[in-house]
Amino acid sequence: MKIVILASEGSPYAKSGGLGDVIEALPAALARIPGNQVSVFLPYYQKIKENPGYTVERVAQFTVGLGWRQQYCGVLRLTNRTDGVQVYFIDNEYYFGARSGSLYGALDDGERFAFFSKACLDSMVTMQLIPDVIQCNDWQTALVPVYLNAMYRFYFPTTRCMYTIHNIEYQGWAHGNFFDDVLGLPWEWRGHLDMNGSVNMMKGAIETADLVTTVSETYAQELMYPYYAHGLDGVLSNVSWKLTGITNGIDVNTFNPETDPALPAHFNRDTFLAGKAVCKAALQEEVELPKVPDVPLLVMVTRLAGHKGLDLLCYISRRLMWEENCQMLILGTGESQYEDFFRDLANEFPDRVSAQITFNLGLAARIYAGADIYLMPSKSEPCGLSQMNAMRYGTVPVVHATGGLKDTVPPADEHGKGGLGFTFQSYNGDDFLAALKRAIALYRDDPAGFQDLQRRGMEQDFSWDQPAARYMELFRRMTANR
Ligand code: GLC
Repeated sequence: MKIVILASEGSPYAKSGGLGDVIEALPAALARIPGNQVSVFLPYYQKIKENPGYTVERVAQFTVGLGWRQQYCGVLRLTNRTDGVQVYFIDNEYYFGARSGSLYGALDDGERFAFFSKACLDSMVTMQLIPDVIQCNDWQTALVPVYLNAMYRFYFPTTRCMYTIHNIEYQGWAHGNFFDDVLGLPWEWRGHLDMNGSVNMMKGAIETADLVTTVSETYAQELMYPYYAHGLDGVLSNVSWKLTGITNGIDVNTFNPETDPALPAHFNRDTFLAGKAVCKAALQEEVELPKVPDVPLLVMVTRLAGHKGLDLLCYISRRLMWEENCQMLILGTGESQYEDFFRDLANEFPDRVSAQITFNLGLAARIYAGADIYLMPSKSEPCGLSQMNAMRYGTVPVVHATGGLKDTVPPADEHGKGGLGFTFQSYNGDDFLAALKRAIALYRDDPAGFQDLQRRGMEQDFSWDQPAARYMELFRRMTANR
């Protein structure tokens, strides 16, 4: 099957979050399935351009019409990737060139990704790459199914389009004028994009894609409710027949405690006790915490954004410090209120708390490996990847039972039996603290029980093989009656 994947980020080229990880591993997993031909399109951001590790050749250039604008577009083919995935970069200096360091957050993001979406379709037409399926992701490529149906059907008579929601919080809102001024779509498509007079790109995708998926089964259910759907619950309920959840995997080759080059010691499910002890001591030294082996080390690797449940953690932190003998380590950057909170907490408890307010992939890996307990109290979590990374590295997760966290961390009882971690149901600090206390008590009072739990986590198959097979199932369903 000919599959084209469109996204605004993909590791290792450009990544700001979990979407980047998915767009690294899912295409590779699909390409391993015999008979598939997989291409990925990404914007040619400045930092990709500047990376000498990526060699490219120009395969096409043309102009893209965007309302009254005519914008240059170059298509660059990556020539040194060897896993069967063909990567193309969409080049336009004005939209993706020397801007600030971050991928998103510019005032004209709407126009930038409208350009990207249309440019991808134009590239396929120019290169005569007419796929069976286009799979697109999040608001940045939400216009693809709209354009496909409104203006490109002639070129893609039987191509089907899947739209995948990784996070419904970011929907691609724009002023109502955006429809004529930038999109230049025929008027009869206005209704699909309209929300209270504004343009909502994600709504357009949900209504016009052949299938809509999201990144866990529980999140697919949750999206029917206003609490989770950020205004799109009605739109999604109307099309619930075409909404499915497929829980992500993780890249088990990159995230492998037996080979990860970032770690000071390697281990597997049989040797984790010794291996993790070395990693823990080295980690404590690296982040300047006292090197004590038998005090539980609680960690969180995250964007410091509200919906990650940081308000709960802030609320319980001091009580946790007073009532339990434990160390806590936070790695991440984000909203300044949380950055400040954890810096202050580390100043207040210098021997107990370490706040690493930075982005550091190597340290992240050493944290997964050296920690005992991983905190993920997210308010909502479409899938979440780091809880899986943590389990793969023998660290026991404590999570809010929502979205993908609910699907990947079945609850253990207080003896550590029956599940993979500790969970709490209602989004509330005291329930979170109670779950944490169950984890700490097991660690302290029943080391063998805690180790069983660690081992079970390490034995799970979090690879992309199963999710990729489910994507294929849906691709086949979409393309069956053409
Ligand atoms: C988004 C979601 C996260 C998910 C990731 C990959 O970042 O917030 O839950 O794991 O996308 O699908």
